[in-house]
Amino acid sequence: MKTTAQAPSNIAFIKYWGARDLDRALPCNASISMTLERCFSRCTVEPRPDLEHDEVLFRSAGGELAPPGEHFTLRVRRHLTRLRRATGREEHFRIATENSFPSAAGLASSASGFAALALATTRALGIEPSNGELSRLARLGGSGSAARSVMGGYVEWPAGPEEEECYAVPLLAAGQWDLCDVIALVDDGPKATSSLEGHRLALTSPYFETRQRCVTDRLDAVRAAIVDRDWERLGPVIEEEAIDLHLIAMSSRPPIFYWKPGTLQVLEVVRRLRADGVSAWATMDAGANVHVICRPEAEDDVAACLKLQREVRSIIRDGTGRGPTFVEEHLL
Ligand code: DP6
Repeated sequence: MKTTAQAPSNIAFIKYWGARDLDRALPCNASISMTLERCFSRCTVEPRPDLEHDEVLFRSAGGELAPPGEHFTLRVRRHLTRLRRATGREEHFRIATENSFPSAAGLASSASGFAALALATTRALGIEPSNGELSRLARLGGSGSAARSVMGGYVEWPAGPEEEECYAVPLLAAGQWDLCDVIALVDDGPKATSSLEGHRLALTSPYFETRQRCVTDRLDAVRAAIVDRDWERLGPVIEEEAIDLHLIAMSSRPPIFYWKPGTLQVLEVVRRLRADGVSAWATMDAGANVHVICRPEAEDDVAACLKLQREVRSIIRDGTGRGPTFVEEHLL
């Protein structure tokens, strides 16, 4: 049955960076994220037993559905092959996908994309996996963060230890604590180094082992802050964690620089906002764009201030999301 799923992106408060098995996206450390609402992917899956290969189409912002680049097609086909294997099925598919936000700019389009693909494919095959199983299936696309995009609110993805146990679990539902994410887009092009390459190189950083020690305390702090809805405790830890990810990237061999001048400009603005009494904290994934996390009462001040910055091309006002849904309107 032709099925269309919508799955959200997420912003990591504790980052997945470095894998013990990159092919199966088994992380070195657990991670925690907030599911977003307005940044999402939609994916239509149509089972086609008559096809010998999976057909993949993609629609970029405002454009027509068209075959995407070879790399994208290969990643989707590989995910579909793994989904077939995991569900014991054989049929091929025609699929179409689109994002509500710029792809490949460090806004976790593969997280939402692979989560939507897993969700739509299982439903199209008449399978109803548990949340944990769905999280595992989303992860099989090779984008680990997709494991966290199959549920709403705040989500933890433990590191393992076994592959079967490596799936995300909910920490706090959306609606129990609403935070805002004002995303400052300082660069909307694709990033020069993929997260995949970043995970691989992370282990070459002389500071990687130190990060593993620090991240355990940060995980405990962020988990407790979310469960207690303790903003004062959450903010500083998520900013420290984001800087740490980029410290590992910059000290990898060879080094990776995701930051652009606009990244530093926004980090500076966020500090200034705090000095002026507006509580906001920054986090960045593997890209130049900055997610400014704040409480709803600070959102207008944060957005107004970010818009004034020369290096900020546009902003996206997002917040805690409720998780994936199915939609009636198909892309195919
Ligand atoms: C920095 O391997 O899940 O966003 O395939 O690009 O989505 P993509 O990346 P993935 O690594 C995510 C890295 C991160 C941190 C995080 O989301 O935990």
